[in-house]
Amino acid sequence: MMGRAGWVAGLGLVLALAAFSSFEAGPAVASGDARNELPDVSVMSVEELVTLRQQVMGLNVRALSTAAQQTGEDAVKAGDDLMYNARFLKVLFPVSTRGASASASPAIWDNWDEFIGYLDDLDAAGTGMKAAATQGDMPAYLAAVQQAGASCAACHQAFRR
Ligand code: HEC
Repeated sequence: MMGRAGWVAGLGLVLALAAFSSFEAGPAVASGDARNELPDVSVMSVEELVTLRQQVMGLNVRALSTAAQQTGEDAVKAGDDLMYNARFLKVLFPVSTRGASASASPAIWDNWDEFIGYLDDLDAAGTGMKAAATQGDMPAYLAAVQQAGASCAACHQAFRR
């Protein structure tokens, strides 16, 4: 678990994923497992959680909208970003945030396994994009990009207002 300092580093990391040049990630978040460390949501307010998950959704758009045009390292990164976002989003919808955003249906917390299932789908799609891009298998990569898009759409259909 990470404390508040860790969370701030985590947020910097998220913003760095968006390549906001004013938020340069330090060496601590440069690579590997450190990147997949998740913030300690217990130290975050409901407002912070809602803002952060909306920002991560924005990063989803950023990664997905250009994914089909990517090749090589950029394609690997697109998959990695979506995989990471999916894992991150799992901790950004605690029940304490029920009712805090008009865009998030309360049905999320009545159908939690289904909700998490869509994030598992996105995680799997991102993982598939990464693996296919690493192997240079572009048909498989593009199929996984489509799979990622389908998971966004399915979850929004069920749980986004
Ligand atoms: C597990 C369900 C789920 C998945 C998967 C999901 N979303 Fe969302 N998305 C939501 C919910 C719920 C909201 C509303 C969040 C809130 O306002 O608290 C949302 C909000 C958004 C928003 C609006 C953010 C804002 O600023 O208010 C965008 C854009 C978005 N999603 C894009 C995507 C994209 C692109 C993907 C796939 C790569 C994706 N989402 C995957 C559930 C999901």
